[in-house]
Amino acid sequence: MSAEKSFYLTTPIYYVNDAPHIGHAYTTVAGDVLTRWHRQRGESVWFLTGTDEHGEKVMNTAASNNVSPQDWCDRLVEDAWKPNWTALNIANDDFIRTTEPRHEERVQRFMTLLKDNGYIYAGKFEGPYCIGCEEFKLPGDLDEGKCKIHGKPVEMLSEDNWFFKLSAFVPQLLEHYKNNPEACEPASARNEVIAFLESGVRDLSISRSTFDWGIPVPWDTAQVIYVWFDALLNYATAVGLGDDPASEGGKKFAQTWPADVHLVGKDILRFHAVIWPAMLMAANVAIPKKVFAHGWLLVGGEKMSKSKLTGIAPSDITDHFGVDAFRYYFLRAIPFGTDGSFSWEDMSARYTSELANDFGNLASRLIAMIEKYCGGVIPAVAKDAGLAALLETTVQTADKAMVALDFQGGINAIMDFCKRVNGYVTEREPWAIAKDESRTAELNEVLYNTADAIRALAVLLHPVMPATTQTLWESIGAEATLGKISEQKISGVSTWGVLPAGCKVTKGAVLFPRLE
Ligand code: MSP
Repeated sequence: MSAEKSFYLTTPIYYVNDAPHIGHAYTTVAGDVLTRWHRQRGESVWFLTGTDEHGEKVMNTAASNNVSPQDWCDRLVEDAWKPNWTALNIANDDFIRTTEPRHEERVQRFMTLLKDNGYIYAGKFEGPYCIGCEEFKLPGDLDEGKCKIHGKPVEMLSEDNWFFKLSAFVPQLLEHYKNNPEACEPASARNEVIAFLESGVRDLSISRSTFDWGIPVPWDTAQVIYVWFDALLNYATAVGLGDDPASEGGKKFAQTWPADVHLVGKDILRFHAVIWPAMLMAANVAIPKKVFAHGWLLVGGEKMSKSKLTGIAPSDITDHFGVDAFRYYFLRAIPFGTDGSFSWEDMSARYTSELANDFGNLASRLIAMIEKYCGGVIPAVAKDAGLAALLETTVQTADKAMVALDFQGGINAIMDFCKRVNGYVTEREPWAIAKDESRTAELNEVLYNTADAIRALAVLLHPVMPATTQTLWESIGAEATLGKISEQKISGVSTWGVLPAGCKVTKGAVLFPRLE
């Protein structure tokens, strides 16, 4: 294990009460694209996702399906969640389940530490609880007795519980977010967190006594640990929280912690930007560098959700458009941090104009011309100064945007370059030059420049569309000469003339087939 600190990114861990929908996939794809981008920057990366399996919501779902909670979770994880991420080409390094011993043991140890540090006390919780949110509510969070988010009646709890002194950390948290704007993004999310902290924060009940589907409180086994307290810890238990520094877990922790980015939806921002760092502060553990809250995918103007029967399965979209178009579309169409509506019409329009026409056709035209005019072999290295200069600024803009989680800005910069390359081909008219034998050198130059631009596009789009760019990489002969596409560095993309002369091109599958 190298000593270099890894870029550590997490997704929320998903409730296994149901199968994944495109809202869940949105977060995980964003995380996958960002971590692939960082890997291509040559960084050591650790990418974690997983499942949140305890709590009343999952327990009730299992009961209504007449299976034990553990069997239900095992089934959903193996039959729905893991295959979904494989199908979407998600390259996570680890997958944590909160029912695993590695998690449960570290959670109990952490809880004991917080008690020893004087931040846990016995108290009584009386008030509303929404099982959909798995959250203790205030009367102001309700609308006619129903949770405003789920539109469903809440439970009224009256329980003797264990409490965490959350309120003790408010001044430290406020100072943190005021001094470190990058710690919570976008700015709207940070403002929300600051306003919440300033509005007065109560201590938090962190155990439940009326059901048993959870991790037992170590010193009071009649209670289970509150599901969010358990779940938030996954980010740290998965990398060895609290382990002996000399052990494997301890070394992993030193290499990954603090997390660089927790990606979350805006609905779970407070848990991540208030409760989670306070828990870590109470244990004297470093807090994450950034919590980034993205917006919601909306259907009919409302947050898309299974419970409102508006959930769309990722396969509903990938069966029609393919996996890479799915990965591309949501990041390209919606500014990350803002809500966005999904529509089949918009997705079809972008698929056809941006992917099939601008990108796919450029590649297939180039390959057809190299086959027709150059015997299928990339001609001598040439350099178009205009394209080379534009590529340099494209890489700079895209890199700056991607590492700032501005996926739309990054993809736009790359696709603008793609448009310019199309313009270059249209202006230079290689098919016309080919008719004049005295202009062979010029023909070769135009084709080389186009090919090398496509080499750059393939590398830059690889984190977003890994499978399609792999096909393209092979068909321009780059795999055989330059090695794996995933090992091409972002910093090397703008060097012009990388694709070697003499590469053999082969006509591969159509990258983005016409839609039915
Ligand atoms: N289990 C908790 C998270 C615990 S993390 C320590 C949870 N799970 S969830 O399955 O309900 O939601 C997980 C993520 O999916 C959240 O970030 C949520 O914002 C995201 N999305 C669920 N529906 C969504 C949309 N319609 N649009 C975008 N993201 C959405 O919360």
